[in-house]
Amino acid sequence: MNKIAVIGAGHVGLTTAVGLSHLGSYVVCADIDKEKIGSLTEGRISIYEPGLEAMLKQNIDEGRLAFSADVQEAIQRADVIFIAVGTFGENGGDTDLTALFDVAQEIAEKSNTDKMVVIKSTVPPGTSEKVKEIVDSFTDNKYRINIVTNPEFLREGNAVHDFLYPERIVIGLEDSCLTETMHTIYQPLIARNVPLIITNYRTAELIKYSANSFLAMKVTFINEIARLCDVLGADVEIVADALGKDSRIGAQYLQPGPGYGGSCLPKDTESLAHISRERKMPLPILEAVIESNQVQKQYAIQKVKDFFPDLKRISLGVLGVSFKPNTDDVRESPSIAVIHQLLREGATLTLFDPQAIHHAREIWGDRVRYGKDEYETVTAKDGMIILTGWAAFQNLDFDKIYRRIKGKVIFDFRNLYNRGEMEKRGFSYVAIGK
Ligand SMILES: NC(=O)c1ccc[n+]([C@@H]2O[C@H](COP(=O)([O-])OP(=O)(O)OC[C@H]3O[C@@H](n4cnc5c(N)ncnc54)[C@H](O)[C@@H]3O)[C@@H](O)[C@H]2O)c1
Repeated sequence: MNKIAVIGAGHVGLTTAVGLSHLGSYVVCADIDKEKIGSLTEGRISIYEPGLEAMLKQNIDEGRLAFSADVQEAIQRADVIFIAVGTFGENGGDTDLTALFDVAQEIAEKSNTDKMVVIKSTVPPGTSEKVKEIVDSFTDNKYRINIVTNPEFLREGNAVHDFLYPERIVIGLEDSCLTETMHTIYQPLIARNVPLIITNYRTAELIKYSANSFLAMKVTFINEIARLCDVLGADVEIVADALGKDSRIGAQYLQPGPGYGGSCLPKDTESLAHISRERKMPLPILEAVIESNQVQKQYAIQKVKDFFPDLKRISLGVLGVSFKPNTDDVRESPSIAVIHQLLREGATLTLFDPQAIHHAREIWGDRVRYGKDEYETVTAKDGMIILTGWAAFQNLDFDKIYRRIKGKVIFDFRNLYNRGEMEKRGFSYVAIGK
């Protein structure tokens, strides 16, 4: 049985560590964030990810999973080291790979046996080769350090399911001897016929970027169609439903909203566009997707301004800060752009989110108020804005809301409700494309 270290205990590293231990490997997950490691050791996770904490406790109890703030020790005790540290977007689309390269150097300098390094972080094509160069230049050549890339496709909010039931496993390598170890690690999934795609480094790296860029394009496409529906008087929900029934298109990622966000789609589209420009092989579709996504955020904001031309004396209850439901992640959330702009325009805001309010407090402090629940958030306000499609926001008690809210307007930027029903209840209803 391989001894595995996972370096980085964030959304991907933690899910990978918990998932691999659940599949039967012995895993130590290490991170430089001592506080995070402290709570993980006690079985507590600092992110909201359904099902992850229970699985983590189970695998700690069964002795297959441990956490450490000593990255060097974790490296030395492992045969296989997954790197899952953050890779960050920079202005202009370049990717900051400092954390990844630091870990690669540490592995090269501190290894005491042969190691296999598996890059889990999302990285621009060509990065695995750079990691190999770093490892080769910092090692004293006593031990062999092999590099494999194995991009992760999990969705936050569904991470446990996506790890245990992936639609494919992609592995990039330059030495076919390494296939066997990856086979052993993923054996329980391969036994279930999860497709395994083994290719070279650059192809594997590009698969991840292409997947995220394609998803961003799909969201953006339906957002553009929604804008067109608004001027044509067509209904984007019905358009999307009909499109989604076409198996060549598929129904997922066809829900209009205030733009895509999160820690992956914006960063990875920008990064791929940047690479294509650098390599003088531009991707005009992707450039348009990135621009159109900015337009979509402004489009949502404009809908509020059209209704309230002067926001200075307007108070709004805002439901949803996380970039999507079932996560507390607010990185690049479209809610942030919308809330910032409304504040700049002088609106008074009260925010509510089922899981992400601690992050909202970090961003806005006392510049906004925070509601205890959906109903307190909208009490005595001039209107209500839905920005995230949490299940809790899909079953609101509108009798209660009608009694509490002062201005009877609902900006439903996740298209959760039916215009006819809302208008029958006496609300003005503003959605996207319907
Ligand atoms: N979040 C997602 O849904 C998702 C999905 C697929 C791929 N990815 C990719 O996976 C990578 C990680 O993303 P994430 O969302 O898990 O990031 P994250 O910010 O949640 O976690 C990164 C972790 O790495 C740790 N770290 C940084 N430098 C370190 C070092 N030198 N040694 C040890 N630990 C270190 C940080 O303390 C942090 O806990 C990124 O490349 C991202 O693009 C993310």
